[in-house]
Amino acid sequence: MSGKPLLIQKAAQLVTLKGSSTAPLRGKAMEDLHIIEDGSVWVEDGIIRSVGTDAQVREQVGSRLEEAEVVDAAGRLVTPGLVDPHTHLVFAGSRENEFEMRLQGATYMEIMEAGGGIHATTSATRQADEEQLYQESRRRLDQFLRHGVTTVEAKSGYGLSLEHELKQLKVAQKLNRDHPVNVVSTFMGAHAIPAAYKERPDEFVEQVIREMIPEVARRKLAEFNDVFCERGVFTPDQSRRILEAGKEYGLAPKIHADEIEPYGGAELAAQVGAVSADHLLKASDEGIRAMAEAGVVAVLLPGTAFFLMAEMADGRKMVDAGVPVALSTDCNPGSSPTISLPLIMNLGCLKMGMTPAEVLTATTINAAHAIRRGHEIGSLEAGKKADLVVFDVPNYMGLQYHYGSNHTRTVIKDGKVVYERD
Ligand code: NIG
Ligand code: FE
Repeated sequence: MSGKPLLIQKAAQLVTLKGSSTAPLRGKAMEDLHIIEDGSVWVEDGIIRSVGTDAQVREQVGSRLEEAEVVDAAGRLVTPGLVDPHTHLVFAGSRENEFEMRLQGATYMEIMEAGGGIHATTSATRQADEEQLYQESRRRLDQFLRHGVTTVEAKSGYGLSLEHELKQLKVAQKLNRDHPVNVVSTFMGAHAIPAAYKERPDEFVEQVIREMIPEVARRKLAEFNDVFCERGVFTPDQSRRILEAGKEYGLAPKIHADEIEPYGGAELAAQVGAVSADHLLKASDEGIRAMAEAGVVAVLLPGTAFFLMAEMADGRKMVDAGVPVALSTDCNPGSSPTISLPLIMNLGCLKMGMTPAEVLTATTINAAHAIRRGHEIGSLEAGKKADLVVFDVPNYMGLQYHYGSNHTRTVIKDGKVVYERD
């Protein structure tokens, strides 16, 4: 990569999160944002070369400043590009009808058991061709970018057959190539038992293990392997088999755990060495302890609890128990149809008892670690990718305090300005 160097100058607060590249932050350290006042960042070839006060950076850079493009952040907040570590980005259609049904009292699982829910989106996604899926997903990715997100994880799981799972993953791969936002792929063939296998779920589990995982790995279409471990979907035993099979093919385990009822998902995550366990609304104390010990990142999804009108996962308790916590939208058409990571941050503060500093850690460096990217994104340090956001607020608390607004002003990805609000 070449082109002009870039100076992002004079941020009122520059949130660096320095020193957190090797492991996610836990406990009290989740509040150590390592803020520089009147901070600047020097970028060359898409990589951060220097971070400090404006005076320090100017002195280091010297006369090279003359050739640089300048983004003036005076009076504003600058943070690492936000990272969303759990989305179901690639799907077709929407499910407003189910939203109405739930408002009238039907539950998420009842709708799914009656053939709606994930099954409804699976039908729509199977019918859509690659181009349609690409266009629909690309519009969502544009929206993520406008809210300050520079990397998302994206799961398959609305194909539920080899052909259609591959189609979803190919769309995610193409988006990663074409779009400024990076897309990190997760295979989630075990997202639901397809209707045709309702009476013989183990046959579907075998199909995921013998047919889908090897092919996804052979084509290098995913880095992670995820399972919806929940009563009525995949049992802990089936989930373990699927996650262990993925490991043999180099796919790192993730798990949708303890979302609707306590089911041993958090414990299983610790046992299989999952990179993250996600949801955790009903995780047991034992499971939380096991995750802290094993260093599994808890990816909490307050938008899902909000939208399903359920009790939130206890973010406060998990942070205090030493679990590294990340936050995410869970963007999907059923339980969380939002692309707004800033809204999720608001909910983290107001509904999960986390502090503004903790939620910022949870959507930058800890989110990066939840998708094994902590070494290259999530903090502003020399050597890392130049993914940054300028927010129209004077300090990091303003992001949460002025809730419900999109404060994103400028987004820089790989050292280039890729979004600027008019
Ligand atoms: O993370 N819980 C399972 N999967 C998604 C929802 C998928 C859907 O309803 O379409 C989730 O909430
Ligand atoms: Fe999910």
